[in-house]
Amino acid sequence: MMLGEESDSANYWKKCGDEALARKIKGVVIMGAHWDCMGDRIELSTNPSPGKSPVAYVNPDKYVDYKLNPDLETTERCIEMLAREGFNVGGNPTFEWIHDVYLILIRMFPGGCPPTTLVSANARYDPHFHMKMGATLRPLRRENYLIIGTGGAVHNLYRNRWAPMLRFRDNFALETPPEDWAMEFRQAVEDVIIKTSGPQLRRAMTRLMKHPRFRDAHATDDHFMAALFVAGAAGDPEDQNTPAMMGAEDWELTNMCNSQFTLGRWPKEVAF
Ligand SMILES: [Fe+2]
Repeated sequence: MMLGEESDSANYWKKCGDEALARKIKGVVIMGAHWDCMGDRIELSTNPSPGKSPVAYVNPDKYVDYKLNPDLETTERCIEMLAREGFNVGGNPTFEWIHDVYLILIRMFPGGCPPTTLVSANARYDPHFHMKMGATLRPLRRENYLIIGTGGAVHNLYRNRWAPMLRFRDNFALETPPEDWAMEFRQAVEDVIIKTSGPQLRRAMTRLMKHPRFRDAHATDDHFMAALFVAGAAGDPEDQNTPAMMGAEDWELTNMCNSQFTLGRWPKEVAF
C-alpha cells in the first residue's frame, strides 16, 4: 500500500521532514486515523516503548527496526492542556502505534524519530470536538512543535477497486479515472484548505462533513478527524491569510485520494 511504497507523497513527506529538522523542531504532535476512544474520552500514548501494529500489504522490513521516540514530557503537558479545556483525557501506557503514524514518521524522518506526542481521536467523530482539540494544542506551534494530522481526503474502502492490488500488488493502478463523487469531494477539500484561512478555514472544514458527497467519500468518519484537528491548530484569527499549499497527491485503488497539504509557514530565517 501507499504508506510502504515510493510515491510523490512519500517524497513530499521527506522534504517536509528535512525542513522541520532544519528548523530544529522540538517535536511532533500527531493525530492519526485509527485510534479512536469511546464515549467522550480521548487519550494520549504514554507508552515509553510502543510496539507497532502490523500493516497489511507492507513488508515488515520497512518498519520493524525503526525506533519510535515518544515524548512523554510533552505528552503530559498536552494532557494537562486538554484537561484544562474540559476534555475527558488521560494517558494510555499500553497503546501500540499504528501505521498511519509510524510509517509517516519513518518517511519524514528516516534518520531518526523526533520526540513525538501521539493523540487519539474520539469515536463520536464530532467535527467541532476535534477542531477544539487542535485549537487547544495550537500554542505548541509557537514553541516550534510540528503538528501533523494523517487521514485521507477521500477514503472509502468499500468503494475502492481492489482487484489490481489483490492480483498484481499494484495499489496505484488506474484502470479508469477516479469516479465523479471522489473527484468532486477531493476538489472540495482542496478548495477549503487552499482558499480559506483562519476561522473561515475552521468553519469550512467542519462544513465539509455536510457536503453532499461526504458520505460517498468517507463511508466512516475516522479518516477525516485529523483534518479537523489540523484546522483547529492552524485556524485561529491570528492565522488569517497564512498560506496553505498542496505539495503532492496520490490516488490509490482508483478511488482513494491521498492529498498532502502544508498549512502555515516557517518564519523567514532559519533559527539556529
Ligand atoms: Fe487508514
